[in-house]
Amino acid sequence: MRIREFGVETWMNRWETRCRYNLAETCVESLTVDQLLGLAGVEGSAFLEELRGLKLTYGAIEGSDRLRDAIAALYESVRREDVVVAHGAIGANHLVYEALVEPGDRVISVVPTYQQHTSIPESLGAEVVTLALRDADGWRLDLDELRRLAAGGAKMIALANPNNPTGALLDEADLREIAAIADTADAWVLCDEVYRGIDQEGTGTTPSIADLYPRGIAVGSMSKAFSLAGLRLGWIAAPAEVVRAVTIHRDYNTISVGMVDDLLAAIALEHRDAILARNRGIVRGNLAALDAWVAAEPSISFVRPRGGTVALLRYAFDLPSESLCIRLLEARGVMFTPGSALDMEGYLRIGYANSPQVLADGLAQTSPFLAAPG
Ligand SMILES: Cc1ncc(COP(=O)(O)O)c(C=O)c1O
Repeated sequence: MRIREFGVETWMNRWETRCRYNLAETCVESLTVDQLLGLAGVEGSAFLEELRGLKLTYGAIEGSDRLRDAIAALYESVRREDVVVAHGAIGANHLVYEALVEPGDRVISVVPTYQQHTSIPESLGAEVVTLALRDADGWRLDLDELRRLAAGGAKMIALANPNNPTGALLDEADLREIAAIADTADAWVLCDEVYRGIDQEGTGTTPSIADLYPRGIAVGSMSKAFSLAGLRLGWIAAPAEVVRAVTIHRDYNTISVGMVDDLLAAIALEHRDAILARNRGIVRGNLAALDAWVAAEPSISFVRPRGGTVALLRYAFDLPSESLCIRLLEARGVMFTPGSALDMEGYLRIGYANSPQVLADGLAQTSPFLAAPG
């Protein structure tokens, strides 16, 4: 199977271990095991006892009941049997495309997005039609345009909410409208919701497509909003027909996820309120700091993100984004993601949810560089 190189991952592989200030990070500052147990109110020694007694079989093939119940509790209408546990959201997305998309199918993908949502259906021989969010519209999805595209037929509409890389957020009314549009085309809606739970406003949690549309497929993960990327654990919440189709593929490439990962994810999700409260504090405080920095930088502007952990920064220099990023890395050790890695030349993507200190230091190092970037 031929597939396009994954722009962002290639960039990360090249630079992530070589930078001093990682402003390309998309996870809310990751937790140590000790911090996780602290937030969950679990004694370290009791946890160690549990780990020591754990017999390392394949574990529950579909994911433990405890974990799938904790995942189902993130939704209004999802039950244990509607949940498929996967190897990260990256594994979950892959399974959905593999199971549902066939050569010649039409997939409408809202871009910019996480590259899986265009490159995998393309590699499977689908006709991928992109619908672009526009900076001039505040990265708002044009629902009339989606309606027009869906009228031409669609097997699936794919989007990320909150969006990576723009930080745009679709609210419940938008999602209901998307569901109505998809319904007329009899299309699945795959909504990648790995950043759900840490919005900038209100409770921080926008409704899930899984609760709004009978053909809605939600993908979630421990990595971003729950700060536990090291577990490599994600999931699909979907109707029975999708669970069945996906499970056939999963048996060929997953068997089960790690038992230790399953246990730690269950503990985390059972105490999700404490983790999400910590993480909303980080993303809201850090975005206020970023906002102030952008306001003071004459060459930088942005549409303030409404959710997630990332934003696109426009810059006023006549330089390719990759050259700008490499110069900044070499001069100051600060890592952004070049827009070119996201097919968004002319922008830098910032991940603003790393530790407040890393963000503050990274931005402080960036300012003098921007005064003379050439
Ligand atoms: C929108 C989106 N989906 C999925 C993933 C993959 O996440 P995971 O670590 O759960 O595999 C990412 C990671 O950057 C992402 O931004």
